Amino acid sequence: LDNGLMRTPPMGWLAWERFRCDTDCEHDPKNCISENLFIDMADRLSEDGWKELGYVYVNIDDCWSSMERDEQGRLQPDPKRFPGGIHKLTRYMHDRGLKLGIYGDMGKHTCGGYPGTPMEKIEIDAFTFADWEVDMLKYDGCWSNATEQEQGYPLMSKALNATGRPIGYSCSWPAYQGGLPPKVNYTQLGEICNLWRNYGDIQDSWDSVLNVIDWFSKNQDVLIPAAGPGQWNDPDMLIIGNFGLSMDQSRAQMALWAIMAAPLFMSTDLRTISSGARSILQNKIVISINQDPMGVQGRRILKEKNGIEVFWRPLSSNASALVIFSRRNDMPYRYQTSLSKLNYTTGSYKIYDVFTDKTMMLKDSTDFVVSVNPTGVVMWYVSAPAKRNFLQFYKGGKL
Ligand code: GLA
Repeated sequence: LDNGLMRTPPMGWLAWERFRCDTDCEHDPKNCISENLFIDMADRLSEDGWKELGYVYVNIDDCWSSMERDEQGRLQPDPKRFPGGIHKLTRYMHDRGLKLGIYGDMGKHTCGGYPGTPMEKIEIDAFTFADWEVDMLKYDGCWSNATEQEQGYPLMSKALNATGRPIGYSCSWPAYQGGLPPKVNYTQLGEICNLWRNYGDIQDSWDSVLNVIDWFSKNQDVLIPAAGPGQWNDPDMLIIGNFGLSMDQSRAQMALWAIMAAPLFMSTDLRTISSGARSILQNKIVISINQDPMGVQGRRILKEKNGIEVFWRPLSSNASALVIFSRRNDMPYRYQTSLSKLNYTTGSYKIYDVFTDKTMMLKDSTDFVVSVNPTGVVMWYVSAPAKRNFLQFYKGGKL
């Protein structure tokens, strides 16, 4: 969507995967969906080095609203859990250089059973969100059918635009239609949405992450052309920092989300996150690969019988990223290959290993061996091939 927003994949925090629909503030005050949770996360984002890296969205998901609209027919937050109201929360974010995202649903109800935003409510709700100075909307699709979605998703796009406030627009539409053509029209999605959920919900397990990776890889030829500045495929939240992933699996999710040019919405408790998980999420080189300004989504280029898969993403300045991923469950696998076997052209390349901070030079034709941990990755930033240096060539004094 050409609204000037999200020219690189959006980054931030989203409540759903980690905090779900916990509304029991009486017994679980620290973890329930309430203004305190979003304030806590905003404090962490702005004080613990996240914001500077680009993690600026603080996004509310389902279960924020009151069960009833107000007298004027507007959505309103649950008064007990959000006593200050949403506008106060957006101001809290804006004062810290952060942004606030909110959640709505195309049907009569949200997926969690809260009031939805069906056709006849789209304009008033878009206006309310803009009035609250909200920066992003995730528009879910429970309780709506294909025909309603065909009208509703474009209509919300128009309604948001008509508010005059730049609001990033995340569409769950394709996820409800199987994520593939002919039911899903990616040309249209790119015109009306900034990002879209293509596939099912991520859960806190390696199984779930693998399932997402496999679906996106299998369908990459359809998905890659849909992505670009202002329009992104969304394989769902980063679950790094929670309970389901090992450190190697966490690096794998981070690396592959960077290859896929995916939105980076963490869904974890930033108040208690381990230093290991934090350093993966705060890895500057992986983030810069994810945020590459060219905005070309990468692809799986090899699927070996031995359980190794290689992913590649072209980056600006003729650079690229490589991820060597192991699906094995036995031990670190010594994978032997060369850059020319990975489709690199003739030349000498500077390699930066993203997770070990090591640099080396590598000629395209030279065989190398990388050791890839079970369910882990090796990730490289590969600089443009070194040009044969003219001055160095003439150093002999022949010039
Ligand atoms: C759907 C969405 C999730 C989350 C829940 C909330 O399942 O796909 O991301 O928003 O609804 O109920």
